[in-house]
Amino acid sequence: MKVAVIGTGYVGLVQAACLADLNNEVVAIDNDSKKIKKLKQGIMPIYEAGLEDLVTRNVTEGRLKFQTEINQINGSEAIFICVGTPPEPNGKPNLDYVENVAKQIGDNLKHYAVIVEKSTVPVRTADWMKLILRNKLASSDFDIAVNPEFLREGTAVKDFYNPDRIVIGTDSEKAVGILTKLYKPLNSQFLHTDMESAELIKHGSNAFLAMKISYANLISRLCEKTGADIQTVMKGIGLDKRIGEDFFKAGIGYGGFCFPKDLGAFVSVLEEYDIDASLLKSVAKINEDQVQYFAGKIVEKLGNPEKYYSLEGKKIAILGLAFKPGTDDMRLAPSIPLIEQLKSYNASISAYDPKAIENAKKIDSLKDIYFAKDSYDAIKNSNAVVIATEWPEFSKLDLSKIKEHTNYIFDGRNIFSPERMKALKFNYYSIGRKPA
Ligand code: UGA
Repeated sequence: MKVAVIGTGYVGLVQAACLADLNNEVVAIDNDSKKIKKLKQGIMPIYEAGLEDLVTRNVTEGRLKFQTEINQINGSEAIFICVGTPPEPNGKPNLDYVENVAKQIGDNLKHYAVIVEKSTVPVRTADWMKLILRNKLASSDFDIAVNPEFLREGTAVKDFYNPDRIVIGTDSEKAVGILTKLYKPLNSQFLHTDMESAELIKHGSNAFLAMKISYANLISRLCEKTGADIQTVMKGIGLDKRIGEDFFKAGIGYGGFCFPKDLGAFVSVLEEYDIDASLLKSVAKINEDQVQYFAGKIVEKLGNPEKYYSLEGKKIAILGLAFKPGTDDMRLAPSIPLIEQLKSYNASISAYDPKAIENAKKIDSLKDIYFAKDSYDAIKNSNAVVIATEWPEFSKLDLSKIKEHTNYIFDGRNIFSPERMKALKFNYYSIGRKPA
């Protein structure tokens, strides 16, 4: 099938490459000519496991093309809109890119196609897009469908091939037929809905997952005060099939461009319809507090006893900057407020991340920290090691080398076992677990 994907960000690029790999003829369109030029040379704008190989193979074999002109949509049966919806200061998503693309499709489309909303947008956006398109095209020339994505950064390619469900929201049988044919090779469960329900499934899923994480983080604080163990507690809760164990890992909070942004957007949607959103506001508040709570723990244990809340003269090694392992994405990473807070206590910071250093260097509040070439370089002469992202290589560190510099480990992602830390005589502090 001929398919067009508009927007080559985290969602669009994975969608385009994977659909090409399913033997479709895909054109990926982006108005950022520099990005398209690089993609044509096989240079990826993001790090995502397996993506580079997938793109290169499908370009070489002629199924995937990159273009800058929107008129390249012509010939495609399905057109996926995958442009960004960045948050405004009031939490509402900016829909300018979605609107512009809808207008450009209306100006350029010369035949029938199903236009698919893939970007995460507030409920009823597809309906609004339909009006924009109807002003420009005859209603027989297009259908609209909402097909939310549930890909996680770092495992996006794997997630594409193994979806828990494929949601297709549309009132058109023809559109259902086209999209079902396109996704059939994935052998997944299909859920056909109206457009509004599909839009709400996306926002509702992300808000629920964020809620699970904040719930675990909230309970972790009580564990620390009562001697209970967060991992045991969340396992015990999650073993109830109605609840489930996933997304119950306590840590320094969720980050990235999806949960914080989508939660904020969902709150503004609820409030627009005069629905009390305090449940979700609390989820966001627990998340923001969690990182401050962890920074507070560091200053309390390591701080200068003569000076109130001061880390003056202390060097702290931060291991992990990306918002999660497997990605170079620094957007809304919890490491940023953590470092800012530690700096406000006058700590000096050295930091290392296997993939995200280049993106971290672009963040104003991180500009004055030392970016190390590896973990051991970061740890050199430090007074404490802080784990901020659970990259697998950190759990394999030679702890005797850490010992040469410091006895303090603050583990924001619970990657080490308290028993091992006790045996090695570290002052070890983690999340929701008592020291052994
Ligand atoms: C999330 C959703 O998981 C995807 O289904 C969705 O498609 C995507 O947002 C999106 O809307 O585009 P993503 O943000 O890539 O995916 O990453 P997650 O794996 O969900 O992790 C989000 C954050 O939660 C990370 O900072 C992670 O460290 C944190 N997290 C996750 C926890 O603190 N505890 C957990 O148990 C799980």
